[in-house]
Amino acid sequence: MQDVTIVDHPLVQHKLTILRDKETSTRTFRALLQEISALLCYEVTRDLPLQSVEVETPIGPTQGRTLAGKKLVFAPILRAGMGMLDGMLELVPSARVAHIGLYRDPKTLKAVEYYFKAPSDISERLVIVIDPMLATGHTAIAAIDRLKEVGVKDIRFACVLAAPEGLDLLRGYHPDVAIWTASIDERLNDHSYIVPGLGDAGDRIYGTK
Ligand code: URA
Repeated sequence: MQDVTIVDHPLVQHKLTILRDKETSTRTFRALLQEISALLCYEVTRDLPLQSVEVETPIGPTQGRTLAGKKLVFAPILRAGMGMLDGMLELVPSARVAHIGLYRDPKTLKAVEYYFKAPSDISERLVIVIDPMLATGHTAIAAIDRLKEVGVKDIRFACVLAAPEGLDLLRGYHPDVAIWTASIDERLNDHSYIVPGLGDAGDRIYGTK
């Protein structure tokens, strides 16, 4: 599938299987989600441009390479996206963060915004939107719509699980946004949960069920 990368690294798949297990504790779930997010971040940033720089080692001068392109913003979709943030920041500690608060209207299943706070220079940065679950795709689309409204041109999307329905919808609305996921699951159920999925990601991160 074009512009969709499945991160099938053995470490990611191993951790994902434990994440799916309904017996996994809140504490372990949170830790594993962070670890998977760091591994996803490694893949999402794989093609970032580099520049040559001179560096002096204790032995002598050499050419090194440092990141050259746009600075990064991680944009977690509240609340479950917050579970991925620390893992991402572990790899890119100087990144900025844009919080996007969206909830799913239980009747229409459409996304409704209740919070948006982003760095003032966000339009000049590469923004990586993070949400563990790409289910219907409505919240991801609304988050990306909002980022484009404030002028962001370079957007990527990272999730842990994706449903084919959400993937198709997101790619239809935002074909310019590349997507990374650890798995494309079978389908959505009647309540728009991913099957087999891992349940409600927010509840499992925060122990609210
Ligand atoms: N959100 C979740 O947390 N889980 C799903 O399966 C779908 C949406």
